[in-house]
Amino acid sequence: MEGAVLYATKYGSTAEYAQWIGEATGLPVFDVGTDSVDPAAFDFLILATPVIYYKLLITDWVQKHLSQLLDKPIVMVTVSGAPPGPKLDAWVGDSLPAEFVAKAKHVALRGRQVPAELTWFDRTMLLIAAWKNPDPVASDEERNGFDYMDKASIAPVVALAQDYIARSPATAEAVI
Ligand SMILES: Cc1cc2nc3c(=O)[nH]c(=O)nc-3n(C[C@H](O)[C@H](O)[C@H](O)COP(=O)(O)O)c2cc1C
Repeated sequence: MEGAVLYATKYGSTAEYAQWIGEATGLPVFDVGTDSVDPAAFDFLILATPVIYYKLLITDWVQKHLSQLLDKPIVMVTVSGAPPGPKLDAWVGDSLPAEFVAKAKHVALRGRQVPAELTWFDRTMLLIAAWKNPDPVASDEERNGFDYMDKASIAPVVALAQDYIARSPATAEAVI
């Protein structure tokens, strides 16, 4: 199967994960914010997106291309401050059409937030969120940032991609 890694990013950490996944799988990598990509050109897709203000940054792109995404295997990679769990699942469910969520395989990775790199608006919004957040760990991360970037954590994504690649008729012929 021919696949691709498509990503959205605001501050670069999801781009970094997408490049790592591309290097590990040999798949081409595209930024949906700057590259014009036709999802119909691929048999399967790895879609990587950060969570920004409780929403997935790739939401608009998915909605625009929904009909071409529902007919192929999709691995949805989220990059967030929050760890995997019900809070993250709720943000994913609120961001994307239910039919898409039902069919995509979700892998949750954790990203990076460097206060000095943020826009004034984002820094201010995150300080307000930290002040209101009852969760002390999340509140500290919103105020002071965090770095959970971990190359090894892409392993489940790479395994799924390699499984799809192995189903390619061309690969099967080469093995025989
Ligand atoms: C403005 C802003 C809002 C964020 N909102 C959330 C959020 O709602 N939930 C969460 O878990 N992480 C949140 N984060 C953390 C990001 O998901 C994390 O920093 C991610 O690595 C950013 O990806 P990027 O570098 O590709 O833009 C937020 C980060 C920023 C800068």
